[in-house]
Amino acid sequence: MSQSGMNSQLTDRLNDAIASLDSVPVARVTGRLVKVNGLMLQAVGCRFKLEQRCLVETAEGDMIEAQVVGFDHTIAYLMPIRRLGGLFAGAKVVPLDGDSTVLLSHQWLGRVVNGLGEPFDDGPAFKGGDRVSLEPKQINPLKRRPVDTPLDVGVRAINGLLTVGKGQRIGLMAGSGVGKSVLMGMITQNTEADVIVVGLIGERGREVREFVERNLSPEARKKAIMIVAPADESPLMRLRATLLCHRVAEYFRDQGKDVLLLMDSLTRYAMAQREIALSLGEPPASRGYPPSVFSILPQLLERAGNSENQHGSLTAIYTVLAEGDDQQDPVVDSARAILDGHVVLSRQLAEQGHYPAIDINASISRCMSACTQEVHTTVSNQFRQLYSNYLQVKELLPLGGYQPGQDPELDKAVQMYPLLKAYLQQPANQAVDYRTSLTELAQMFQSL
Ligand SMILES: Nc1ncnc2c1ncn2[C@@H]1O[C@H](COP(=O)(O)OP(=O)(O)O)[C@@H](O)[C@H]1O
Ligand SMILES: [Mg+2]
Repeated sequence: MSQSGMNSQLTDRLNDAIASLDSVPVARVTGRLVKVNGLMLQAVGCRFKLEQRCLVETAEGDMIEAQVVGFDHTIAYLMPIRRLGGLFAGAKVVPLDGDSTVLLSHQWLGRVVNGLGEPFDDGPAFKGGDRVSLEPKQINPLKRRPVDTPLDVGVRAINGLLTVGKGQRIGLMAGSGVGKSVLMGMITQNTEADVIVVGLIGERGREVREFVERNLSPEARKKAIMIVAPADESPLMRLRATLLCHRVAEYFRDQGKDVLLLMDSLTRYAMAQREIALSLGEPPASRGYPPSVFSILPQLLERAGNSENQHGSLTAIYTVLAEGDDQQDPVVDSARAILDGHVVLSRQLAEQGHYPAIDINASISRCMSACTQEVHTTVSNQFRQLYSNYLQVKELLPLGGYQPGQDPELDKAVQMYPLLKAYLQQPANQAVDYRTSLTELAQMFQSL
């Protein structure tokens, strides 16, 4: 046999031998469960990495998934992803390799899934797809495509006075029951997007069904993906579901689609992280929130927005709960600093039946001037000025303490107020497109 023939034979045999190694079962080092404290599991006896996924054996012989969230010397702290059951002292804990991944594909469109990417509705199981990691992809902020195109959200007050751009990230901030979810529903119904990703995180379970039936028409449902982790899910599952929403939205954005991501609510995400951090013994800093909460918020919110690609956008809208109507709430404060705009809803307006209860003077869209024409910005500023002038004298009016004729600016505000108010109100089942919003705004000032 020639020298080269022998060489190639040897190479083939070597390759065969290497390939067969894959199928040889390798003994795994496993750990043991030593303590369960609330939701926190403690395991020893193996090298666990932070954020590593593990399987924990139960008395019934099942394996439940848990994740390493911290350690102390040789003890690893794990949290289960699902509800606990059947754990016992000395149960096997098997560390798994690799990041958390999901198989993503177009089959997800029109479906409701849980935080692990499994169907939550009665539809068929997903087959195949692209395996993607839940880890964020870093985007160089300097290379992000700027926000410069207005997005029609179908809500007059927002289109006209708080214009949102494609790729912008905004927060809807209010106390409970002021209308965040309803406003988010209106935006979902009326916004033009190729793909809509809705994350319902930590809210009431019954809201999931309501949201789908009330806000998504059969057409919209076909391009929507709902990712849900109701309040009774474990904190880890709520975190997973949040990351999954962002990953799914990024996936479609990177395929050149215009994606709208809606998340109700960001506060429940922060609370899930708070639950985990407090069980690990991290000291609470601001209103019971440990510092780690405020470091994961920017990491999450920076994932939304445009990418370096010329095509595809990811506009994100988060609801943020202002506990006790407190706009100084630490999560509200932190979100306001990171996001490109905030729409504040006022309980006072809601109590008067003024819906959507947008407090126009407390709200701002930081990308508005970049995506609208100058004349639009000017008129919108005039509107705000009139509205704030009116608020100055509002209290005096019923008491007869305001005398017209002294300050023309204030007189104009009082005279215009009914028009301003009518402009801001809109029934939840009505859409007002971008063009109409602008025309109506301009007309209001022409009549002066
Ligand atoms: N645009 C609206 N029109 C009429 N009623 C509204 C509107 N927005 C909110 N509401 C009322 O307020 C309630 C609470 O709204 P919701 O959006 O669930 O509050 P949040 O999500 O802020 O807790 C609704 O059930 C509804 O009765
Ligand atoms: Mg709500």
